[in-house]
Amino acid sequence: MDVIPATGALVEFKGDAVAVGVFENQEKGKPPALPQPAQGIDAKAGGIVSASIKSGEFTGKLNSVSAYHLGSLPSRVLLLVGLGKKSDFEPDIVRQAAGKACCAARDLGAKKLAFCADSVLFKGVKAKDAGRLLTEGAILGLYKFQSHKSEAEKKELEELHLLTKGSAREVADGAKYGEIAASSANIAREIANSPGNLAHPQKMAAVASELARNYGFKCKILGKTEMAKEKMGGMLSVTAGSHQPPAFVILEYEGPKSKGKKPVVLIGKGITFDSGGISIKPSKDMDRMKFDKSGACAVLGAFIAAARAKVPQRLVGLVPLVENLPGGSAARPGDIVKMRSGKTAEVISTDAEGRMILADALDYSKKYKPRAIIDLATLTGACVVALGYECSGLMGNDDKLASLVEKSGEESGERVWRLPMWKFYNDYNKSEVADIKNVGMAGGAAGTIAAGKFLEAFVPEGVAWAHLDIAGTAWNEKPSPYLALGGTGVGVRLLLALLHKL
Ligand code: BES
Ligand code: ZN
Ligand code: ZN
Repeated sequence: MDVIPATGALVEFKGDAVAVGVFENQEKGKPPALPQPAQGIDAKAGGIVSASIKSGEFTGKLNSVSAYHLGSLPSRVLLLVGLGKKSDFEPDIVRQAAGKACCAARDLGAKKLAFCADSVLFKGVKAKDAGRLLTEGAILGLYKFQSHKSEAEKKELEELHLLTKGSAREVADGAKYGEIAASSANIAREIANSPGNLAHPQKMAAVASELARNYGFKCKILGKTEMAKEKMGGMLSVTAGSHQPPAFVILEYEGPKSKGKKPVVLIGKGITFDSGGISIKPSKDMDRMKFDKSGACAVLGAFIAAARAKVPQRLVGLVPLVENLPGGSAARPGDIVKMRSGKTAEVISTDAEGRMILADALDYSKKYKPRAIIDLATLTGACVVALGYECSGLMGNDDKLASLVEKSGEESGERVWRLPMWKFYNDYNKSEVADIKNVGMAGGAAGTIAAGKFLEAFVPEGVAWAHLDIAGTAWNEKPSPYLALGGTGVGVRLLLALLHKL
């Protein structure tokens, strides 16, 4: 779909449908005020819209959509999209409105939709923000995982016009950013949605290498022999039970004005399927564990976005890709593994595999003398217990970096919440027989923090590091206003925002 910002009036738009955001009346039971562009359309259409509003058919309730068939106007349908109460407004509502409007227009068979960008200019949302938020909501909202359906959906929205009476240039500036952020996130979602039999480690590595060629960054792939040479004990232990060969992908991007700069390292957990290994998971909902590569997908998406936006940074991406299965040669609970860093780890559960592969990647990052490291991982079920599906868990060793991640989360609509990393949590991972164990306290007390603490033990000395536990945010079990069921691409938008701040 093309996003086309322009100066113009809705009432003159020659397409299939036009959409306007409408706030709910602050006073309960009173009809909402129609924004001026919709008033013009209502007048031409003989007052059908105002009559419907008076009768209480459409109240402006958040994410409600009403369609009015206009007859003789240039466009055949007007969509009113509820923005909720002004007192509850936040910028993310603009993404939601765009997602709702685009899906409604598509389902009505529309090919060309115009959205009134001026109708969402409120409380700090300026023209440029409107362009960005509307574009993100539209592109993210229209995506569905359809690649393996024999019959593809026929209905497709082809053009979204963002109309303003103000500066189309500003709307276009925001739309350009939004298109990069959302399209990159959609690529991450497509890979995340792909199941374990198709998106196995070698396939993921091949996809990474193809993306690198297409978008202009470098990609190198280490195989099992090289992992052994690198003494990546964590990687080798997790891959031992699977017939799928593992891969360790190294991405490099050099943005403008970044020569000689120390790199920012992005690391993503790439377990292409997590059965739990010998500590096998219950079979109910185990299919969901194809999503355990979402951190890897986020890093791939962030590289695409960074390269397309020409972010002025040096970036290194480290993507450990492994399948976690039980098998005759699988790792056992009780194993003691020498990790790449030289530390020994006791495997209490083979289901705590993410931290094993991330530990080797964190240690590997030393080679690049990073300025900062950000890792993303669907690491713990405990994170879902603590924070639910509304935000990712944030941990780290650097307040400045953490606060930039928090700001980026706010801006991108990918919320994070910081968890404490006090020294006394180190005890949770103390092993009787090795330097560290891969499961924290019995009963899972502070399981997310214990996992974060395990990772911290492998972060290169003196480097600022942030860890995002995306276990609750990487997958939508139910569709949300602009994210369908399945992979959410979480991390891509946040990282793009962050890379502009570092
Ligand atoms: N990939 C899972 C984390 C996960 C579990 C995400 C459930 C979303 C829902 C991870 O590898 C895992 O299995 N972690 C264990 C750790 C435990 C054994 C200490 C968990 O969370 O149960
Ligand atoms: Zn696991
Ligand atoms: Zn896992």
